[in-house]
Amino acid sequence: MTMSETSNQLDTLLREQRTFAPSEEFTKQANFNDPGVYERALQNPEGYWAEQAENITWFKPYDKVLEWNPPHAQWFVGGKLNAAYNAVDRHRQGPRKNKAAIIWEGEPGDDKVYTYEMLGREVDKAAHMLKSLGVKKGDRVTVYLPMIPELPITLLACAKIGAIHSVVFGGFSAKSLQDRILDGDSDILITADGGFRRGGIVPLKANADEAVEGTNVRKVVVVQRIGEKANATMVEGRDVYWHEEMAKAPSTPCPSEEMDAEDILFLLYTSGTTGKPKGIVHTTGGYLVGVNTSMRSVFDLKDEDIFFCTADIGWVTGHTYIVYGPLTAGATVVMYEGAPDFPERDRFWAIVEKYSATVLYTAPTSIRTFMKWGPKYAERHNLDSLRLLGTVGEPINPEAWMWYHEHIGKGRCPIVDTWWQTETGCAMIAPLPGITTTKPGSATRPVPGIEAEIVDEEGNAVEPGHGGYLVIRKPWPSMLRTVWGDDDRFQRTYFGQFDGIYLPGDGAHKDEDSYFWILGRIDDVINVSGHRIGTMEVESAIVDHKSVAEAAVIGRSHEVKGQAITAFVTVKEGVETSPELVQEIKQHVVEKIGAMARPEEVIFTAELPKTRSAKIMRRLLRDIAEGRVLGDTTTLADPSVVESLKNQYANTE
Ligand code: WT7
Repeated sequence: MTMSETSNQLDTLLREQRTFAPSEEFTKQANFNDPGVYERALQNPEGYWAEQAENITWFKPYDKVLEWNPPHAQWFVGGKLNAAYNAVDRHRQGPRKNKAAIIWEGEPGDDKVYTYEMLGREVDKAAHMLKSLGVKKGDRVTVYLPMIPELPITLLACAKIGAIHSVVFGGFSAKSLQDRILDGDSDILITADGGFRRGGIVPLKANADEAVEGTNVRKVVVVQRIGEKANATMVEGRDVYWHEEMAKAPSTPCPSEEMDAEDILFLLYTSGTTGKPKGIVHTTGGYLVGVNTSMRSVFDLKDEDIFFCTADIGWVTGHTYIVYGPLTAGATVVMYEGAPDFPERDRFWAIVEKYSATVLYTAPTSIRTFMKWGPKYAERHNLDSLRLLGTVGEPINPEAWMWYHEHIGKGRCPIVDTWWQTETGCAMIAPLPGITTTKPGSATRPVPGIEAEIVDEEGNAVEPGHGGYLVIRKPWPSMLRTVWGDDDRFQRTYFGQFDGIYLPGDGAHKDEDSYFWILGRIDDVINVSGHRIGTMEVESAIVDHKSVAEAAVIGRSHEVKGQAITAFVTVKEGVETSPELVQEIKQHVVEKIGAMARPEEVIFTAELPKTRSAKIMRRLLRDIAEGRVLGDTTTLADPSVVESLKNQYANTE
């Protein structure tokens, strides 16, 4: 998306006039209810973050809050701590010892509750197990698991011994998993025999077997989630079962490794402009301070809360708001394994009711799906326990916001629309529910301690009523530190445009009240149902098909998914195009990347529209896919290409 193209969306957003002030009752009980906090944090951000850092347990206090050598930040310099200790062990010593830490529900209906004490024992055992398998501090452990308790247990066990976890979402293909194993140079993989999804079985082990070929992986630990039906084969000498290794591990506490505040906690890969995903590097101290703070500020978390985040731990939302955020805050978190429509379309609401969830955090694409299904599924359940709602992943359209407000929040729960990214670690632009008056469709304003702005090409802040690039002017604790193995790319991508200022890659508009309206990506990244997919990645996957000569991929607006992928494809000389070939190409993308990258439609064309300097005109392709009147085509090398493309597109619908 380019700056000018975001204006369509903007028109609809700016017609939105409704405002929702927090109720007196909510404000009274809120953790953050003094509006002065914004100004105080602005005047002294380091002081603000130092105050927040008191909620984290340090083995050794830090010497300095921030060391900033743009674009490299070090936070809480000299401090020593451990993330697993903060998330689990410290709660085992006080009144939270027997409190539910994780309430887990499997898709088939099985469930399990782990108290902090029980979780701690499992993490200790898993940490012993990893050590006995030769994992050492600083090693990268690749994790390819479904949403089962062993997933957070593995992450916390890694954190406990100072190993770096690198989670790969279970929906990724063998090839994507392999790329990430190779890039992170990981020699151990934790996976499962399979996972449940919508009643079916995801063949994780088969993918894992294919992925580890040609990598340095020497050990594969396999959790038995499915059992016999999974048909998983174990490779002698390389593969071991999780339950067998866990049974061998001592049941004594495993000491928490003293980590430096700047030691790496995890890598998480995300898509960018080029075909190669970036391994985003997060460190220990700053990340924990950031995520813990946002639990208390944005999510107003209290000890009594039951926090239900519907994301998968394979994405950053799950890392931050299922594992490290809620657990460092000593909360109870609900974790659900499967699909929202299994066995029926009321599953989320059944879970809210069953566990009396108080906070629900989900994605706009899910809300739009629920809207389509109609309110009757939510009406089957008692949702009175809910007191706060959140959304993340993409801009939320005002209609979806209002539906969420009325049918789920019953008009009484504040909604926090949280803008952030894999790179930012936690919510950056979001309301504080006890303070901020919300507007449907706006993430409102930067949270305290974050200096975000909207700027023009020269980097000057735009006046209210204007749009531009979203930037973050000052470093913040949970920011990415670099891109794994490619610091150059880190510098170029995020700090290349404006000196010392972070560029997230989103366009935004500032309204008359200086509220932020995020408009979407300004680079070649498509946001499909809140999943970030690089156009180049999809194009390379398509071109890899034997019949394809060239491909151009764009994101077009989609009612439910936010954006959908449309691929324009030219085939090689002599190849006959056919509906079967369309299916083959779609399937090829699924095999190369994963199901979330499957193009919605594949359109064959004799030629792609190109400028005279041979650049593909994606803007034009987007106009065609979205049925708009075409913009300026004067730079087009061969204008007739457009006419034939338009006809082609019309024929696919
Ligand atoms: C991109 C980051 C952060 C966890 C999920 C996605 C878009 C995210 C919002 C929001 C408008 C949003 C942005 C951002 N995005 N949240 N509340 N309003 N846009 O993490 O995969 O790193 O994607 O998602 O475009 O850059 P991610």
